[in-house]
Order: sequence, then structure tokens, then C-alpha cells
Amino acid sequence: MRFRTQRVAYWYFAVALSLFGLQLVMGLLMAAKYLGPDPLIDLLPFDVAKAMHTNLLIVWVLAGFMGGTYYVVAEESRTELYSERLAYIQLVAWTLMGATAIVGYMLGWTAGIKMLEQPYPLKLVIVAVMLLFFFNIFMTIRQAGRWTLTEGVLIAGLVLAALLYLPALLPYDNYTVETFYRWWTIHLWVEGVWEMIQGSMLAFLLVRLSGADREVMEKWLYVIVGLVFMAGILGTAHHYYWTGVPGYWLPIGGFFSALEPVALVGMAIYAYAAIRRSGAAHPNTLAVHWTIGSAVFTLFGAGLLGLAHTWPAINKWTHGTLITAMHGHAAFYGAYAMIVLAMISYTRPYLTSNRPERGQSLGYWAFWLQVAGMFGMTLSFATAGIGQVYLERVMGLGYLDTQLKIQIHFVMLVATGSLFAVGVILYIVDFFRFAPLRVAAPHDEGAAPRHAPGTV
Ligand code: HEM
Ligand code: HEM
Ligand SMILES: [Fe+2]
Repeated sequence: MRFRTQRVAYWYFAVALSLFGLQLVMGLLMAAKYLGPDPLIDLLPFDVAKAMHTNLLIVWVLAGFMGGTYYVVAEESRTELYSERLAYIQLVAWTLMGATAIVGYMLGWTAGIKMLEQPYPLKLVIVAVMLLFFFNIFMTIRQAGRWTLTEGVLIAGLVLAALLYLPALLPYDNYTVETFYRWWTIHLWVEGVWEMIQGSMLAFLLVRLSGADREVMEKWLYVIVGLVFMAGILGTAHHYYWTGVPGYWLPIGGFFSALEPVALVGMAIYAYAAIRRSGAAHPNTLAVHWTIGSAVFTLFGAGLLGLAHTWPAINKWTHGTLITAMHGHAAFYGAYAMIVLAMISYTRPYLTSNRPERGQSLGYWAFWLQVAGMFGMTLSFATAGIGQVYLERVMGLGYLDTQLKIQIHFVMLVATGSLFAVGVILYIVDFFRFAPLRVAAPHDEGAAPRHAPGTV
């Protein structure tokens, strides 16, 4: 930590990891519900547990993005944050919003649309928190008079993510129309602007962990972001099979979304090559694991498993089944959970006192148990999903009859999910066992910025 105010990142990460733990409780609970009987059915039915699970995911990942951004912006602009106090107020508001939403879902207070269940007043709080965040970031950059391309792409990704939340704020009379516009938020987040956030955090980490030339890294960042955008925007139509749009959208969606994995292949090669060239010499070997892990797992979960059901001829059968859950888990984990865990792993020796930079065995256990557990969970959802599509959609069996026949895969989900959860618990323990640092201390920055392109 070069700047005192970067310490706010610690508290954002602390909140993120705590909510991550809670998210898994809901995940395991849902997996158990699939096995039935469900004694909690009146208190916490499946749909409520699912809304809590996915909303906790979004809240913790965004808390991780915000904490990471505060760290990156101070470092890239080489300045203290404009207001540390505002950053804490923002974190408190964000956490309270998340907690209220979760309690509200239990009481039936919900907007009722998948992943955007937040009731209207809470959506307004989200907008207010975002405005506070951007004000603090822009004032920081203004005060420094300096910014870099990596930082620019990161902030652009966050601003666009906030703008894409706007369709979720509009009132709709018709549920089908609401579902149509829902993809402008959800799809364009995960396959568009959040990729800018992941890409820039990856560039930030790779420059520091590999000593790779910043100019080369940033050029590649442009290429990747460009590719994701070109393919991702029209790729939105891969969600249109059952939406009632004119038929010409289906081949357009299939074709462009099938191009998206090209950018993800580029990202994985880019990350691997950067570290290979440096011989993985950076002492923070765990941060190297998480960084490369994120690029590679994204290629698997988003690229390969996204491609697996993106063509209309396949999505016609697989839409909204456990095949979707298979891909949703691997993609979200690889791209957005792992990049936040990479940022935390890289920054925590600088945010806590006496933590050695070099990875210790607890950290390795956390990494490999999570990777193995998530791989097993993905396989559990995949095998369940294939069975479900065949029995229910091809053979025409009823939904519940099908569920009874594929129950064994949920035993596997509980087992692999538990393995994954142990990995997460170890990560959380590893994070909290060192006290946060209060003052700035000099640190090894790996390859320090050699110049500042885009200086204003
Ligand atoms: C202990 C670990 C976990 C378990 C047992 C678990 C289990 C589940 C279950 C049973 C569902 C409902 C699927 C359905 O609708 O039938 C679900 C949904 C979901 N989970 Fe998890 N989960 C876990 C961790 C995670 C993690 C770490 C992430 C992301 C990083 C995640 C992301 C999601 C998403 C995005 C959905 C919604 C999928 C959809 O579109 O239907 N889960 N999870
Ligand atoms: C990091 C990137 C990605 C993430 C985090 C992600 C996550 C998700 C999630 C959570 C869903 C379920 C959404 C819902 O039903 O509300 C979903 C659906 C889908 N994703 Fe992705 N995805 C990513 C990239 C991709 C890519 C690159 C492709 C194609 C090549 C793809 C293809 C699909 C398709 C076709 C569906 C619709 C499934 C259905 O009809 O039920 N995804 N994705
Ligand atoms: Fe999509």
C-alpha cells in the first residue's frame, strides 16, 4: 500500500468475502432442497433462496470490484483518494442495501424478475451508491491530473455497467417485454461491460506480476475489449429464442455470440504468455495462480460452456434448464469471482500487517479445493442438465417426474459444492488471520508504471 487511503479496499474485500460465504449457504440449501423433503419450505422456499443466492453473488462481486477500483485508481493515478470518508459511507450504504434486500426477499418484498429482484426503492439506493462512487473516483483523478489506460477501461466498464442498469428501472406493463429488456442489463453486463472490468484488472495484475511491458499489455487490452464488444452486443440475441422477437434475430444471435469465445481465447493466451515470459518470478505466487486461473476458467466456463448452448438449434431445448446453471456457475466463478479473489490475493500483503508475500499452503488449499469443487459442481449440473433436457424436453416427461430421475446428480452437487465451500472457508480464514494495516508502507510493485499514457 503506497497510499494510506488504499486501506479502504481491505474493508470492501472483508464485506465481499463475508457475503460470498453467505451465498454458499444458500447454494447448499438449494441443492439439499432438490433432494427433498424440505422442512424449510414455508420459511425459505426455493425461489427465495435462489434470489438470495444470486443477489448475494452480485452484491459481493460488485463490492470486490469497488474495493479493487479504489486500490487501482490510487495506484495508477499515484494519489490519495479524494475522500476516504465517502468511500466508507458508500460501503455502509451498499452493505445495508444488500442486507435489506435479502431480508426483504424472505418477507416477499421483491420486484420478481430474475437477478433484478431488488424492489424499486432499493434500486434507487443502488443508483445513489454508484453516483457517490463515481464522484469519489472522478475527483481523485482530477486531483491527481493523471490517469492510465488500464484505469480508464476499468472506470468506463463500471460507468457503462451503471448505465445498463437503467432499463431495469423503467416500468413495464408486460412481463414478456420486461424479460426482453432484462437482457440489455444482464447479458450486456456479463458479456460486455463487466468483461472490460475483468480485462483491466487482469492487465493491472499482469503488469505487476509478470513485469510485462505496460504498453504491450494495454494494447492487448484494447483488442480484447474491442472483440468482446463487437461480438457481445449483437450476441444479446442468443437469449431471444423464446422471447417472441422476429426470427431473423436467432441466426444473428447465434453467429455473434459464437464469436465471443475468440476474445476469451485471446485473453487466456495473453495472461499465460505474460506470466510464462517472466518465469513466474513474482513472490506472490498465489496471486499468479488466481490471475491465470481466472483467465483460463473464463475460457472454460464462459467460452466453451457458453458456446455449448448458444446456437438456436440447441438453446431451443436447453433454455432455462440445469444446462444454464452449469454454464452460469463456471462462467461467473471464472470471470468475476476469480478476478476479485486475484485482486484480493495480490493486494492483501500490502493491506495487512506481517503477511508474507509468498503464498503459503493454506492459500494453495483454498485455490485448489475451489477449482476442483467448482469443476465438480459444473459436471454435476451438466450431467443433471443433459438428463433433464432429454427426459423432459425430448421425451416429454413431466417436470417433477424428470427431477426424480436425475436426483442422483444433486448428491454429487452437494458433495462437490461442499468441497468448494471448504476452499472458500479456507480463503476467508486466510484473509482474516492478518490484521489490517493502518498506515501506508512502501511495497514491491513488481513492474512499476514506466509511463502514464493518457495523461491529462
Ligand atoms: C456451494 C456452492 C454452490 C452451490 C451448491 C450452488 C447451487 C446452486 C443451485 C442449486 C442453484 C439453482 C439452480 C436452479 O435454478 O435449479 C444455483 C443458482 C445459481 N448459482 Fe449457485 N451454487 C453454489 C455456488 C455458486 C457460486 C460460487 C456462484 C458464482 C460465482 C454461483 C452462481 C449461481 C448463479 C449465477 C445461479 C443462477 C443460475 C441460473 O441462471 O439458473 N453459485 N446455485
Ligand atoms: C463471463 C462471461 C459470462 C457469464 C458470467 C455468463 C453467465 C450467464 C448466466 C448467469 C446465465 C443465466 C442468465 C439467466 O437466465 O438469467 C447465462 C445464460 C446464457 N449464456 Fe452466459 N455467461 C457468460 C458468457 C457467455 C458466452 C461467451 C456465451 C456464448 C458463447 C454465453 C451463452 C449463454 C447462453 C446461450 C445463455 C442462455 C441460457 C438459456 O437460454 O437458459 N454466455 N450466462
Ligand atoms: Fe448472454
